[in-house]
Amino acid sequence: MVISKICHRPTIRYRPIQPSDLEILEKIHADVFPIRYESEFFQNVVNERDIVSWAAVDCSRPNDNNNELIGFVTARIVLAKESEVGLLRFKEGTTMVPQAPAAQIGDLLRYDPSRPDQTLVYILTLGVVEAYRNRGIATSLIREVIKYAASISTCRAVYLHVISYNIAAIHLYKKMSFKCIRRLQGFYLINGQHYDSYLFVYYVNGGRSPCSPL
Ligand SMILES: CC(C)(COP(=O)(O)OP(=O)(O)OC[C@H]1O[C@@H](n2cnc3c(N)ncnc32)[C@H](O)[C@@H]1OP(=O)(O)O)[C@@H](O)C(=O)NCCC(=O)NCCS
Repeated sequence: MVISKICHRPTIRYRPIQPSDLEILEKIHADVFPIRYESEFFQNVVNERDIVSWAAVDCSRPNDNNNELIGFVTARIVLAKESEVGLLRFKEGTTMVPQAPAAQIGDLLRYDPSRPDQTLVYILTLGVVEAYRNRGIATSLIREVIKYAASISTCRAVYLHVISYNIAAIHLYKKMSFKCIRRLQGFYLINGQHYDSYLFVYYVNGGRSPCSPL
């Protein structure tokens, strides 16, 4: 699918990702990320195995396409005590591996050991088809994740990693009041080259950081 330009005013609707989205979901991931994700990851997304997701579709496209993904966000719930700063998005990356020593992200979120049930929501992937960018679609998708996280009483934060050169995404997270709490040196290895990542956090339900932001 290549949508080069849209000549109409789109009407964007948000819904969960479903099995019929599999092919287009894989295609958009291949188009927008510098890495390849394993098919197991996509199967887990569309079958809702430990992953929650939202799709953006443009209802004003012609009939055949009016339910086709033009954006997505995927996330999963992790136990704060088991989460690691150095943990890569899932085990899906084949050319991208975590390089930073693992540290408990719970430590960065005032994890309370007397509350072992505390959870976090980790954003795995977020993307919008190029022709639909700068219309607030990623903002709406992230808002869905934040709403979802806030609705879970044990959840203390939404967090994610972003590669240090991804200016558009960094602006987006800052604009949405995510806090940058760590820079992880050489976190990503892509085609033999190391890249730093930033760890961004959005606190919910009274979660907060024990350290000052970068
Ligand atoms: C990052 C991405 C998801 C943004 O999607 P989007 O729907 O265009 O984002 P929005 O329209 O909601 O943008 C909101 C804010 O993001 C920032 N932003 C978005 N695109 C930007 C750009 N090209 N340059 C600088 N800031 C940008 C701005 O702060 C913008 O607010 P503004 O319009 O008031 O300036 C999209 O560019 C994308 O899919 N990129 C490739 C995949 C990717 O990098 N995913 C994130 C991995 S961590």
